Amino acid sequence: MFFPEVRMRRLRRNENLRRMVRENRVTVDDLIYPLFVMPGKDSIQEVSSMPGVYRFTIDRLVKEVEEVYSLGIPAVILFGIPEFKDEAATGAYDDHGIVQEAIRAIKKEVPDIVVITDVCLCEYTSHGHCGVIKDGEINNDITLELLAQTAVSHAEAGADMVAPSDMMDGRVAAIRSALDNEGFENIPIMSYAAKYASAFYGPFREAAESTPQFGDRRSYQMDPPNVKEAIREIELDIEEGADIVMVKPGLAYMDVVRAARENFDHPIAVYNVSGEYSMVKAAARNGWVDEKRIVYEILTGFKRAGADLILTYHAKDVARWIKEGTFGVY
Ligand code: PBG
Repeated sequence: MFFPEVRMRRLRRNENLRRMVRENRVTVDDLIYPLFVMPGKDSIQEVSSMPGVYRFTIDRLVKEVEEVYSLGIPAVILFGIPEFKDEAATGAYDDHGIVQEAIRAIKKEVPDIVVITDVCLCEYTSHGHCGVIKDGEINNDITLELLAQTAVSHAEAGADMVAPSDMMDGRVAAIRSALDNEGFENIPIMSYAAKYASAFYGPFREAAESTPQFGDRRSYQMDPPNVKEAIREIELDIEEGADIVMVKPGLAYMDVVRAARENFDHPIAVYNVSGEYSMVKAAARNGWVDEKRIVYEILTGFKRAGADLILTYHAKDVARWIKEGTFGVY
């Protein structure tokens, strides 16, 4: 049958009909909220390139997490800005490091929220790279040991899930076996499996003070034109024991999310990264786009591409809009 018997517009005539045939929706259950924690007391600092995103001292972070949880968001992911940085990234696996202390403080006040930790060295190395440097190169195998130590120290502090974002080879297996050896066999790993070397991380590096002091991350993060390679990366992480696999960034990599969905049944997360957030905020502040509607389309697009979970700086706003019943309804 064709027109005039077929009329696609019949099911679009009003909002109730549209609701009935809507194929994908974002729920608050899908959201993971990224948070930055810094040393000090009773203070917050707005990240200038990310309006509405702050770095919190631990005491203020706990209040923020209470608010996040009261909005119904099930999980946060923590990034630390340490007191000092060195060549060996000691702050990353210090039992009393910034993230370890933040986890303890959150778990005391908001025990049920899922606390995920980003496991990487770049915020803790003096040179800003995600691994240890040896003979002028980012050394893969030495780094694995430190990443495993970092993950274990997060679990010991009470983290519910660890998320390695370094892109070293073999890190999921190294972290899995270290966690299991220490009795943390129930702590899942969400791996940043297909993580691209991207300019979209610019604002994050300001927030986390993790800009590499020389060179760039292209010898470990993926080359943007590749998608078959992403499938291999994801496959390897799954074989090494990843429980959830992530694609990052999101917007320019929706096809990678779709390819991952078609190849794997594991839960898939997508990271709607800092630069994606900043672009929306900047355009919205100029009155050039309608922020709520743009965010609705972006996040719904991730679901349509096949993502199950979305890490996004928009999470608190989205949770509020969903609660009010105004997300995607206008
Ligand atoms: C750490 C890490 C980065 C992001 C998450 N974990 C930065 C990077 O790889 O340079 C980026 C997140 C964002 O841009 O929102 N390796």
